[in-house]
Amino acid sequence: MIPTLTWTAAGVRFIDQTKLPLEESYVLATTYEQVADVITTMVVRGAPAIGVSAAYGVALGAMQTKAKTPEEFAPEFEKVCARLAATRPTAVNLFWAIGRMKALFAALAGSGASLGEIKEKLLAEAHAMYQEDIAACKTMGAFGGALLPEEGGVLTHCNAGALATCGYGTALGVIRAAVEQGKRIHVFADETRPFLQGARLTAWELMADGIPTTVICDNMAASLMRKGQIQAVVVGADRIAANGDVANKIGTYNVAILAKEHGVPFYVAAPWSTIDLATPTGEAIPIEERPQREVTHHAGKQMTPNGVGIRNPAFDVTPADYVTAIITERGVLRAPYAESLRAMELVVR
Ligand code: MRU
Repeated sequence: MIPTLTWTAAGVRFIDQTKLPLEESYVLATTYEQVADVITTMVVRGAPAIGVSAAYGVALGAMQTKAKTPEEFAPEFEKVCARLAATRPTAVNLFWAIGRMKALFAALAGSGASLGEIKEKLLAEAHAMYQEDIAACKTMGAFGGALLPEEGGVLTHCNAGALATCGYGTALGVIRAAVEQGKRIHVFADETRPFLQGARLTAWELMADGIPTTVICDNMAASLMRKGQIQAVVVGADRIAANGDVANKIGTYNVAILAKEHGVPFYVAAPWSTIDLATPTGEAIPIEERPQREVTHHAGKQMTPNGVGIRNPAFDVTPADYVTAIITERGVLRAPYAESLRAMELVVR
């Protein structure tokens, strides 16, 4: 399995996703500030991987402290959490993971645990999130794999694979599971401008698994659908609002519209940590604006005239109406999502 992030005695080791596929190199983060930097610069990216990375960042922050007691450490702990929370705004998994670490700290400090004990338990919690993420991917893969056709083309956008999680992947987990179930799937990977997660990362990890994959430019999907070459779309999500609106990589909404027009099912695969029932609709999801340079430059070379206006929203929102089903580790949800999400929230894992 591709080691997206690994805990080591020295800190967290990340495969550098900015360098793939040409270079397989690793970055070691030994402090929480370094973890925050690798999230911001997208050495690690993808909603579930960002969440677990932040949890390890919090654990590292606790290990770095010179404080002697939980009370003395408390204000520093808040600073660590705030720094990690300020890295990327859209993936709710980040806030979910930090929230879980904060709740654990509060419970332990409140029960009179020593700082040493708290440090150990924070690290254990990050390890638990890591394992739970892989298990969730495998379970949603089994649910989602059953929805894909016995044979045919499956389009995906961005990278919602092993590299975006602690392993196996969400959308690519569904595809992996379908292939493991004996289905003959050919993946079409949108290149995903401007950061090229599809061309660089999805293609790389599917090829490593021997799953037939073709990279297409983002503007080619309509034509392929019209020719009947795409039987299903599966994407991941960064945040799913209470009404089922889905924030995911910019361009996902385009794909959803095309799928609806061509009668192709559009599936979203995401762990429950991506569901944000506190956000009523997609309108309220914060959309990250990334540096202009990601659009103006390609492989270090400037592609646009000096001074031209540039926009770089990293995500868009696909209205729930376009979503055929949401695949989670708790099961497959169908519209009306406001009801199915609320009902599933009550299901004990
Ligand atoms: O900007 P990125 O690369 O972090 O965006 C990633 C995506 O949009 C993924 O589709 C999403 O996080 C789901 S990952 C399982």
